[in-house]
Amino acid sequence: MINVTKTYLPDIDTYKAHLEGIWHRAWLTNNGPLVQELEQKLRAHLGVEQLYAYSNGTIVLQFALKVLNITDEVITTPFSYVATTNALIWHNCKPVFVDIDPETYCIDPELIEAAITEKTTAIMATHVYGNACDVERIGAIAKKHNLKVIYDAAHTFGVKYKGESLLNHGDASTLSFHATKVFHTVEGGAIVSPHTHLSEEFELLRAFGHRGDEYYKMVGINGKMSEFHAAMGLCMLPKVDELIAKRKILSDLYDAHLDYSKLSKPTFVSDLERNYAYYPTVFESEAQLRTVFAKLLEHQIQPRRYFYPSLNTLPFFDTKHDCPISERISARAAALPLYPELEPESVLQICELINNAL
Ligand SMILES: Cc1ncc(COP(=O)(O)O)c(C=O)c1O
Repeated sequence: MINVTKTYLPDIDTYKAHLEGIWHRAWLTNNGPLVQELEQKLRAHLGVEQLYAYSNGTIVLQFALKVLNITDEVITTPFSYVATTNALIWHNCKPVFVDIDPETYCIDPELIEAAITEKTTAIMATHVYGNACDVERIGAIAKKHNLKVIYDAAHTFGVKYKGESLLNHGDASTLSFHATKVFHTVEGGAIVSPHTHLSEEFELLRAFGHRGDEYYKMVGINGKMSEFHAAMGLCMLPKVDELIAKRKILSDLYDAHLDYSKLSKPTFVSDLERNYAYYPTVFESEAQLRTVFAKLLEHQIQPRRYFYPSLNTLPFFDTKHDCPISERISARAAALPLYPELEPESVLQICELINNAL
């Protein structure tokens, strides 16, 4: 079976060497040395000043909302994974959906100002498929209206915009290190934020809000990364550039062989150093998507509807927001198989099967 993705597993002996260290120290969690080493290496690798590691990429969205004290209405994108919206609802915020740009598939900054009310406190936008939101325009709108900006950067590991980390924009960016991601720690996530005066909050919130037995600062929760997860990250990190290079070769192959007179795809913004986290393609109709999926499945190939559904149409909202562009794209969008160990011949086979089914 060729799945949409396959988790990369590093050399097992390198992982075992970390296990021996863990066994020797008998320090398995609670901000252990491997977590601290990983955080420090990630800061250097990504070119960010402040980064904290957590247990997953959803809890970091919630932590960002908590630390930045976001309440009431939050302007957000309908074209993302459901975790983006869930985090807002979980935090008792009201998601206000603003449609996406038909080229980049990221939130359309032109539409943001009209959605701002006196209750709006923040903008939460996703760098879709590792593409960059219009960070300059969003930053300017946020400044004008005194709003916070959180970027869901789950897809954005290692992406650079205008020569520097895309994560350096906004009041916080959140990463996912889930096993399906370009860089993973099995489960995991991180927050990047320029607000160093909030470092104690970022640090303590994931560990019940206290340090030691006597210093209780805030209401925290358990969002800690374990040593076993950090060990996986430390094995992955030296490999990640090579893995991204392999993804690029396969992605270029799809670009060259898929019939783009009949398909479409997002336009990645210029001056972007990409990470090729996904290979998104958009069919002419939902019916065509279904036909292609059925054909691929006959050959044991499983793409994924990503992102679907458009989040403004989720069944648990009383009021319906109209986001026609997001709804139109999400009904027809698919992520095709893309992972470093995928054979180029398989990409060619997938292209041929798709082109013949269009
Ligand atoms: C855009 C986006 N946000 C958030 C998440 C949630 O991350 P995690 O699975 O690490 O909780 C994902 C996961 O796929 C995602 O794609």
